[in-house]
Amino acid sequence: MSCRAAALGASKRGRSGIHSVRPFDGRRVLLGVTGGIASYKSAWLARLLTQAGAQVDVVLTRSAREFIGSSTFEALTGRPVYSVLIGDGHALDHLKLARAAEVMVIAPATADFLARAAHGHADELLSACLLATDAPVMIAPAMNDRMWANPQVQANAASLRKQGRVVLDPGIGPLASPDEGAGQGRMQEPETILAHLGRLLEPRGKLYGRRIVVTAGPTREPLDPVRYLSNHSTGKMGVALAAAAWRRGAEVAVIHGPMAVALPAIGLCAIPVETTSEMADAVRAELGLADVLVMAAAPADFRPAAVSGAKIKKRLGAPAPIELTENLDILSSTRDGRKPGMLAVGFALETDDLLVNAARKLEKKGLDLIVANSAREAGAGFGSDTNRVTILSRDGAPEALPLLPKTEVADLILDRIEALL
Ligand code: CTP
Repeated sequence: MSCRAAALGASKRGRSGIHSVRPFDGRRVLLGVTGGIASYKSAWLARLLTQAGAQVDVVLTRSAREFIGSSTFEALTGRPVYSVLIGDGHALDHLKLARAAEVMVIAPATADFLARAAHGHADELLSACLLATDAPVMIAPAMNDRMWANPQVQANAASLRKQGRVVLDPGIGPLASPDEGAGQGRMQEPETILAHLGRLLEPRGKLYGRRIVVTAGPTREPLDPVRYLSNHSTGKMGVALAAAAWRRGAEVAVIHGPMAVALPAIGLCAIPVETTSEMADAVRAELGLADVLVMAAAPADFRPAAVSGAKIKKRLGAPAPIELTENLDILSSTRDGRKPGMLAVGFALETDDLLVNAARKLEKKGLDLIVANSAREAGAGFGSDTNRVTILSRDGAPEALPLLPKTEVADLILDRIEALL
């Protein structure tokens, strides 16, 4: 794909706040914490997992307890915390915990832990659990950048990957010690780890391995060097769709205008654009291989007929000299370039006659699904974290959904897409 990946380890972005919680409901997660300063972030990860509905068993290594206490995790998860391999009443903890776990995550993983895990040590509870589990394992290393770059550490990480463990590259950014500056060694943000765990836990559906192109956010049409024409779209709905499709195993390209929300630092292909014409070009470039196109963006329908090279001056009460011309309708323009069987999904934001207008757009733009929402409803549409939509398809009655978080709306739209694939 002709895109810049919002790749792990390459992003300094923090929290987007948009992560689906679907795959964690009632799942058993074993969270292993080793002795790094990043362990303060593990408390937040435990919190996120618990909030997402997981039952979280926390195992602390001896050195982790130097950094963070078991009471913190006990309070956050509502469950006992484990750290003893050999002791009265604990003889079989490593087997019980390993068997119960549906996924195991070690965050942070120190250089020392990577070495011991790579070589199969079992001299404390966490590494014994690692040897005893059949569940998928994700490891989020955190250390000084020179330690991470050390050839032995790299060899240990490579060896763990060869053993089938998912080892996340550490993030790039300021490191813990004020003398160290920035480098690659930060533990990935808890939200990023949560998103990757979600992808590991998600059962394989029809979107797995498919290519999906999602557009998101507004476009901007320049008027002069200081002004532009745009709309109130923030990109939240498109980002929620992209993240949920990625979690389901799809290869996702996100063609986005200037958004108010950050793309999560997961494996999305980010293709930033500015104008509707640039978005149209990017969509055309991605279309040939796409299995699904979801146009969640709000491209500006008009642009100034001429872009002034100099700032347009006020003219003392005279009408502003701005003439508009219509932009290309991107969705309609893709009709000839769609590969056979490709699904096209549009959105319709209306102030009046919602269903009539949406049905007309479904037909006119040659869509398989259209997601209609009203611009007049509070808590729905641009900027809000929730949306109330009605999904129209080529056959079947319109399906009105209740007011839901956009993350959940995204999953329900993807369910309909999977049903059609
Ligand atoms: N869309 C598009 N190209 C445009 C404008 C919109 O592809 N230039 C897409 C949107 O991404 C959305 C769908 O078309 O999926 C409907 O957008 P909407 O703004 O509701 O409708 P318009 O076609 O622009 O019609 P109108 O503004 O007249 O309601």
